Amino acid sequence: MIQFDSDRRLFSISTDGSSYVFGLNDKGVLQHLYWGDPVAAADCAPLLGSRLHSSFDAALDREAEEFAYWGGLSYMEPCLKVRWYDGVRDLRMAYASHRIERADDGKETLTIVLRDEAYPLEAHLVYAVRPGHDLIERHVEIVNAGDRDVVLESAQSAAWSMPELRDYRLTHVTGKWAGEFQLRGAALTEGKKVLESRRGFTDGHANPWFAIDDGAATEEAGRVWFGALGWSGNWKIVLENTAFGRVRVTGGINDFDSEWTLGPGERFETPSFVGGYAAGGFGAMSRALHRYQYEHVSPGKELRKVLYNSWEATYFDVNAKDQMALAERAAKVGAELFVVDDGWFGQRHHDRAGLGDWIVNADKFPNGLEELIDRVRGLGMAFGIWVEPEAVNPDSELYRSHPDWVYHFPTRPRTELRNQLVLDLSNPAVKSYIVDFMSRLLGEHDISFVKWDMNRTITEPGMRDHPLNRQKELWIRHVRSLYEIWAELRRRFPGVAFETCAGGGSRIDLGMLRYADQAWPSDNTDAFDRLGIQEGFSYAYAPKLMTCWVTEAVSGMNKRITSLKYRFHSAMTGTLGIGANLNEWSEEQLAEAARLVAQYKAIRPLVQGGRQYRLAALKHKGVDAVQYVGVGESGEESVLFAFLHAQKLGDGLPRLCLLGLDPDKRYEIEGGAFDCAKNEEPESEGAKGEGAEIEGARGKGNDGAKDVRSGRALMRIGVELPLRGDFDSLMYRVRELRS
Ligand code: DGJ
Repeated sequence: MIQFDSDRRLFSISTDGSSYVFGLNDKGVLQHLYWGDPVAAADCAPLLGSRLHSSFDAALDREAEEFAYWGGLSYMEPCLKVRWYDGVRDLRMAYASHRIERADDGKETLTIVLRDEAYPLEAHLVYAVRPGHDLIERHVEIVNAGDRDVVLESAQSAAWSMPELRDYRLTHVTGKWAGEFQLRGAALTEGKKVLESRRGFTDGHANPWFAIDDGAATEEAGRVWFGALGWSGNWKIVLENTAFGRVRVTGGINDFDSEWTLGPGERFETPSFVGGYAAGGFGAMSRALHRYQYEHVSPGKELRKVLYNSWEATYFDVNAKDQMALAERAAKVGAELFVVDDGWFGQRHHDRAGLGDWIVNADKFPNGLEELIDRVRGLGMAFGIWVEPEAVNPDSELYRSHPDWVYHFPTRPRTELRNQLVLDLSNPAVKSYIVDFMSRLLGEHDISFVKWDMNRTITEPGMRDHPLNRQKELWIRHVRSLYEIWAELRRRFPGVAFETCAGGGSRIDLGMLRYADQAWPSDNTDAFDRLGIQEGFSYAYAPKLMTCWVTEAVSGMNKRITSLKYRFHSAMTGTLGIGANLNEWSEEQLAEAARLVAQYKAIRPLVQGGRQYRLAALKHKGVDAVQYVGVGESGEESVLFAFLHAQKLGDGLPRLCLLGLDPDKRYEIEGGAFDCAKNEEPESEGAKGEGAEIEGARGKGNDGAKDVRSGRALMRIGVELPLRGDFDSLMYRVRELRS
């Protein structure tokens, strides 16, 4: 897969569906040559060579540099910028050596060593590919081989050069609290577009993922180049288009307010930046990223449990009695994991106090947490708990004992957000305190799931016990320390699953997902709003990693009223959870919820492990549809969810063509109520539309006859969508018929 052609001085990385080629030109510049559909590396040789337009535009080949260092004639976004002990701020890196290694699992790694001509600094550019994936994992290791400090002002993970396209369209996500993962498209004209976080965590305002196409790619067709960065602190992705039409995407740790002093013999490793090429549109891009996450990023390989979470039901008003009542009902509807959210510890009766005091509140739990855990376990569920270890309320015992444990500048007020401050994770005492209290909590109780929250950004970035000339290391130290804490907890408690949450989706990235089994994309649990958030999430991240809750009929977020079925269907497109106050649900609602949970469990392997197809053909009609395809016990299986926003009278819906099936196979379609044969008119909220789904799908009434169609018909002629009115939804299950 990885080769070096020494005659032509070409490096090539070939995967099943892509070629990536670069070479060493006459000036010793590692020049990017090609990335796209497979080609022979030798055919790229004529592309290699230095170029000059004028003395004002010298060294144009450096616009396509594999690793742009700040020095000489390089004016584009640098991958490496340093400051030497003698005040020199210039690099001149030359190729020194390379090696290609192959691991037992087939993973191949290319390491190219660049060395400065005058100073003892090396940059090791690492490229890795895995069999069956059209992705390249890149990072850089900077090595100080001398005996003096060198300051890294910027050390980026990779620069991805794009081919020449007619136009460059960037697809990315933006957002805010309760509105994360909103998809956007932007034309990249000459100049720079910067996506970044400066807030201390990944951030919901942007996410470290990008996709570029020529403006014509669709869900199912067209060429897409994309990348995702694994860093959960300040990051930056710079998309730069030059006057000569070269587009380069440089990404890594944000260099804003950031520096790292590399001592003699030390090595600095950047986070991983994964890049890929997909010839089959945005759908193929997402499926490539999802499969990579399932196979090589996500720690837990098993199916995610249907969870119940107490937050929206009881907020801070947590007590053993109410939680046990909720647990009874959660078990009744089929939940497999019961999670107590915020409010169980210290004087945490609201968000103004108690954060940091991780002692079970004895008034709320007079018989300890054990009583609730025993009940939950007795009901056949696992038990989970909420924590926010990195933050502290000033009104807490922890802060009263250790006021200097938070980031701060002694001469400045400490900015509070949600009445809390951020603990200085670079301080070894703070780090041990977190590992210790978490180990006590997980060691003393039968806890199988931790929801790890973080509800504020970092301000006043000062580390009291750190050298003054190294204060700008804070942004990196916080994240590294966090990763080390998670790694240590996972090592000590291998049976515990973790969820990453930061007031919603502010800390979701490939770095965090190496430790977290699942992620909370948004505090917005409105079933309709969530469709957009979940769609944006799905561009970069896999459905199994996305926790989705069913909450109340009148959404607390925006007062929207939707049926139980619609709310369930919306949440069933990821890892299903329930976050409503089940103590107030009627027996009928509980029974319907139980039926929907059972349906989810039946299709869960498809949603959590199958290939996801976003069906965008009817978006202009207000229909969101998503399909999952995989292999079940009886052969190929698929499940389709479709959601109608609002319908005008008489404005019917055309059929919807499915994707990803085998044209020559025969499939049986079952409507949303495939496990019950009722065919009611949509009178009651709960039953709305279900009967119609069966009838519509069969096209000949609910007479019990099988509705069998070929894959070809399902993909070319499509299925009926008997959706009506506002906020209607359906689920079809499609199964291969073998006999
Ligand atoms: C923010 C989270 O996103 C919510 O789900 C909930 O856990 C609250 N924090 C608790 O304070």
